[in-house]
Amino acid sequence: MRMYDLIEKKKHGEALTAEEIREMIAAYTAGDIPDYQMSAMTMAIYFQGMTDREIFDLTDAMAHSGDTVDLSAFGDRSVDKHSTGGVGDKTTLIVTPIVAACGGMVAKMSGRGLGHTGGTVDKLESFPGFRTSLEPAEFTAQVTRCGLAVIGQSADLAPADKKLYALRDVTATVDSIPLIASSIMSKKLAAGTKSIVLDVKCGSGAFMHGLDNAVALAETMVRIGKAHGRNTAAVISNMDRPLGHAIGNAMEVCEAMEVLRGEGPDDLREICLTLASKMVELSCGLSADEAAKATAEALNGGKALAKFREWIGEQGGDTAYVDDPSLFGVAAYTAEVKAPAAGVILSCNAEQIGTAAMVLGAGRQTKDSVIDPRAGITLVKKPADTVKAGDVIARLYTEKAETLEAAAKLVQEALTFTDRPVEQQPLVYRVIS
Ligand code: URA
Repeated sequence: MRMYDLIEKKKHGEALTAEEIREMIAAYTAGDIPDYQMSAMTMAIYFQGMTDREIFDLTDAMAHSGDTVDLSAFGDRSVDKHSTGGVGDKTTLIVTPIVAACGGMVAKMSGRGLGHTGGTVDKLESFPGFRTSLEPAEFTAQVTRCGLAVIGQSADLAPADKKLYALRDVTATVDSIPLIASSIMSKKLAAGTKSIVLDVKCGSGAFMHGLDNAVALAETMVRIGKAHGRNTAAVISNMDRPLGHAIGNAMEVCEAMEVLRGEGPDDLREICLTLASKMVELSCGLSADEAAKATAEALNGGKALAKFREWIGEQGGDTAYVDDPSLFGVAAYTAEVKAPAAGVILSCNAEQIGTAAMVLGAGRQTKDSVIDPRAGITLVKKPADTVKAGDVIARLYTEKAETLEAAAKLVQEALTFTDRPVEQQPLVYRVIS
C-alpha cells in the first residue's frame, strides 16, 4: 500500500477497499503515515464522501486499533448512550440511573468538556471523592453489582480515532459525516455494549446545525451499529438553546438531581425519558410502550434517585451531597444579566452561552485548563418567555471576578428579542431505530 495512491484514489471519488482502509489505519496508528498525508486523505474524504461499506470498514479498523472491552458476561443487557455534545446536557446523570433501575446494565465511558461543550466526567467529579478511573475488573464488577458505572475514556480505546480526531480538529475536517460517524461509533463499538442509543444534537450549540445533516449523521451511525451486530437507535434533539436552566458542573449535577426527585425543567425531563425508554427497550427486550411505562415509574417512584445515590457511593463519591445539594456551595462572585427592554425572547445561542460558562471557569479553553465546579450560569428565562425591562434573564457564578464582565457580554449577545409571541420549538425532532 502506498498512501500516495490511496489519496489519489479518494481524490477522484473512488472507493477504498477494506484491505486498504485497514492497512492505512494500522500504519497511521503506528506512526508510519505522516500527518500531512493523512490530512490530505481526510480532506479528500470530506469532499468525496464514502460509501456505507467504506464507512463500516473505517469504523471497524479504528475500533480495533487498540483495546476492546468484553461485556459478553452481561448478555443482551449491556447498554450505552452517547450524546454528540451540547450545552447544559446533563442527560447521562439522569438517564443512566433510570435505565439501571429498570434492569439495564449501563457500562459507560464518558468524555471531558472542551470549548463550549460540557463533559459528564467533569460533572461527576463535582462530588468529592468520585473516582472516574476504575480498573477494568472494578468497572465490570460495579456494573454487575449496581447495574451502572461511568468512567473516563481509556487512552487505549480506539487510539486511531484519538490521533485522527486531533488532526481533523486542526485541518478543518471535523464536520464530515463519514468521519464523525466512524469516530463516534469506533469508540462505542470498542466499549463493547450490545445496545447503543445516540443522542444526536441539532442546532446552534451542536456540530450539526441543520436537521437534514443531523438525520443523515444519525442514520449513518445507526447503520454502522447494526452492521456490527449492535442494537442501535438515535434520537435527534434540539440544541438551538441550552438544555434545562443550569450550565456548569456542580450546578448541572444539582439540576439533574432535581429531575430525579420529580422536579426540574420539563425539557430536560422529556429528553431523558425519551432516551431512557429507548435504552430500556433495546437492552431489556420490552416494547416501546412497556419501556416508557417502566422508565416513568422508575423516575416518579424514586427508584432512579435511589440508584443514583447508590452509584455515586459505589464510585467513592460523597453521598451526603445527594441528600443535601446545598453542600456544593455557591461561587464567590455573581452577576445578573437583565432584559434591556420588554419583549419575548426569540433565541438563545447555545454555543455562545456555553462559551460564556467556559469563560467563567466551568469549561476548558485548552485540554489542560483546570475547571471550577461551582462556576456557571443559570438561565432564568429561555426562548418564548416574556420579559419586562430589567427582569433577570441569567445569573452568572464564578470564583474569578474579572471574568464576569466578558461573560455577561457574551450572554447578552447570545439573546435576541421580539415583540411577537414565539412558538416553542420541538425538543425531540425524530427517533431513528
Ligand atoms: N465527537 C467525536 O467523538 N468525534 C467526532 O468526530 C465528533 C464528535
